[in-house]
Amino acid sequence: MKFDTVIKNGVVVTATDTFPSDVGITDGKVAAFAVDLPLESAERVLDARGNYLFPGGIDVHTHLDMPFGGTTSADDFESGTIAAAFGGTTTLVDFAIQYKGQTLRTALDTWWGKAHGKAVIDYGFHCIITDLPDARLDEMKALVREGISSFKLFMAYPGVFMVEDALIFKAMLSAAQTGSLICMHAENGGAIDVIVQRALAEGKTAPKYHALTRPTTAEAEATGRAIALAEMAGAPVYIVHLSCSEALDRVREARDRGVAAYAETCPQYLFLSLDNFDVPGFEGAKYVFTPPLREKWHQEKLWNGLANDQLQVVSTDHCPFCYKEQKELGRDNFTKIPNGGPGIEHRLSLVFTGGVHGARFSVNRFVELVSTNPARLFGLYPRKGTIAVGSDADLVIFDPNQDQTISASTHHMRVDYSMFEGIKVKGVPRQVLSRGQLVVDQNKFVGRAGHGEFIKRQTYSQP
Ligand code: URP
Ligand code: ZN
Ligand code: ZN
Repeated sequence: MKFDTVIKNGVVVTATDTFPSDVGITDGKVAAFAVDLPLESAERVLDARGNYLFPGGIDVHTHLDMPFGGTTSADDFESGTIAAAFGGTTTLVDFAIQYKGQTLRTALDTWWGKAHGKAVIDYGFHCIITDLPDARLDEMKALVREGISSFKLFMAYPGVFMVEDALIFKAMLSAAQTGSLICMHAENGGAIDVIVQRALAEGKTAPKYHALTRPTTAEAEATGRAIALAEMAGAPVYIVHLSCSEALDRVREARDRGVAAYAETCPQYLFLSLDNFDVPGFEGAKYVFTPPLREKWHQEKLWNGLANDQLQVVSTDHCPFCYKEQKELGRDNFTKIPNGGPGIEHRLSLVFTGGVHGARFSVNRFVELVSTNPARLFGLYPRKGTIAVGSDADLVIFDPNQDQTISASTHHMRVDYSMFEGIKVKGVPRQVLSRGQLVVDQNKFVGRAGHGEFIKRQTYSQP
């Protein structure tokens, strides 16, 4: 058998197995596994001795080139996908936004235009729905046929993205028919708005009030409501960026009853807390994202949720805004700080460090959380999310013992600070392949803008 590339001497890790093997790649696909694959005919041989070989990471929550909060997220599809690749992520699912009055198809066309020719790794889109008159319901079905098999709805950000329960319920009924998945930003936006206005009236304008005006109860209430609506509609539901113990309780209770409720959390909720606002001046703006950071004790509840399958996915919610000129828009009023944080680059290293080195879960569970479960839930499996004959050769040669200190001075995201500045991780991608092509080779970008392809996703399957 002739291979384009053979990866030698690695330890292959999937969600279920760990075994030493060489991996042969032909035409961008995994073609064979064996110890001692023949090398003679291979055009390239990569030595993975001492390293794990993971399926490429899949980040199902990113916002590249996204207009938001009076500005636009700082990474576009080129810089954002390069940073993702450095971190071992080989597929993104970003969000195409339908603005009021637009067709859903317009949203998709706009985001195709942003990504085409720029992405260095593969990508898909969810569609954010903000406006869904009955006449538009069929558009959801048409989008599913185009490979957009998930939709995000917001229960927060009144006047911008927030939609009412009736719209959510109708969208869920449609999802139940097509097998698509509704992703929910679960916070009670109406109640939060009242609390926010009261804080502003009291002169509380500093960044930390973004967090202090968004109580965990508002997230838990909306999480419970989203699950109840999904249950009535007979549809699965996926809670995005879950940040706190109370919301996790709602997901756990539903899952214990057999409801198809799923949830993701993000590294910022696992590693950062309200304590991060104890910084001089306006620096707290670096940690303004939604839902906000919580008291530190929530972190261990979330890790426990990841270990025990109450949470199924770790995504990043990468939504980068520079501190200078972008976060600074809210110097006098925290509601004007663009919401979002940069995280696309360090998800695998952070979760590996806290989860596997932290002895909270196995290396197989790690793969499941960062690659296999997102692939299954979002219709990418088994093309992506595993290492199997016939799957895309999206592969990460990962050194589990290499130390790295996260810093804005070395990261590849186009943003002037790091949320994780100074945090030490153990476990770093060494080489990253997308469909058999090296994208990152020992700290060097060797990929190509435009290599990344739009992936027409299948519908949801249970993880
Ligand atoms: O603060 C955040 N999370 N910004 C991105 C938009 C969202 O709600 O996911
Ligand atoms: Zn959100
Ligand atoms: Zn988001």
